[in-house]
Amino acid sequence: MPVKNREVAAGAFRDRWAVITGASSPVGLAVATHLMSVHGMRGVLHCRAHRRPLVQLVERLRRQGLDVPVLITQADLADPRALERWIAYVRRQVDHVGVLFFNAANFYKTPWAQMKWRDFLRMMTLHGWAPIRIIQKFYEKMEPPARVIFMVDAGIEQGYPAYAAYTASKAVMAHWTRLLARVLSPWVTVHAIAPYWIRREDEASEPVLLRITRGEPASLVTLLRAVDLILEGGGAMTGQVLWMDSGRWLG
Ligand SMILES: NC(=O)c1ccc[n+]([C@@H]2O[C@H](COP(=O)([O-])OP(=O)(O)OC[C@H]3O[C@@H](n4cnc5c(N)ncnc54)[C@H](OP(=O)(O)O)[C@@H]3O)[C@@H](O)[C@H]2O)c1
Repeated sequence: MPVKNREVAAGAFRDRWAVITGASSPVGLAVATHLMSVHGMRGVLHCRAHRRPLVQLVERLRRQGLDVPVLITQADLADPRALERWIAYVRRQVDHVGVLFFNAANFYKTPWAQMKWRDFLRMMTLHGWAPIRIIQKFYEKMEPPARVIFMVDAGIEQGYPAYAAYTASKAVMAHWTRLLARVLSPWVTVHAIAPYWIRREDEASEPVLLRITRGEPASLVTLLRAVDLILEGGGAMTGQVLWMDSGRWLG
């Protein structure tokens, strides 16, 4: 994706910080690239283990002329002590936060009948506790227009029995979306995006469509359009889950 000249990126979010958890994932990399190169934002890019994709991304964007400040950070956000250390570090580095994008996730099997407390706790900490704790510590640094965006999953509506801890803990994010939209209004708007399947650029569409009996998977491009809508859509739109799942949540 070409880097837009910062002089051209004159939108309301330019030069504000975007904090992106799980920025090392395909979705995180795409969103981080978009917010920095198109919206001219500064970036706090977080990963748990895979720092290399972030370093490579920043090197590539620098070669293309991006000159915004970028901070690469690493922490296991399912560990409450590591979470507190990460928050304290990032708080010292940033002011004027424009976007908090909660993308970090751990998707592994926890069949409901065999689910262990330890797995449930880790998922609840990563998807439920870490976002609210980060918002508690950052909302005073957010200035309007500012956005909180949660990456949830269309599976939260009915739940995936084989991934019970994942869908239950992701459902907490949808609850935070509604609760926080009310308490942070009108300074900050709060949004959730709920795909069923995000097709990556390197995935052929046919095998994916064979697995999905109804509808079309979301692509990274449509996801970025949703992010633009959230950023540019004004303050009236808040507290909603944007379902990108071809209507699956309807049953
Ligand atoms: N992909 C899909 O089809 C799909 C469908 C529905 C919803 N979603 C949602 O969309 C988002 C992105 O999906 P994705 O497939 O791109 O995700 P992914 O590839 O599974 O990446 C997960 C990200 O979260 C980070 N992470 C994992 N465990 C963590 C922990 N304990 N502490 C901190 N960070 C942690 C990873 O960091 P490291 O790379 O450093 O390990 C990585 O950056 C997720 O929130 C997911 O729930 C995705």
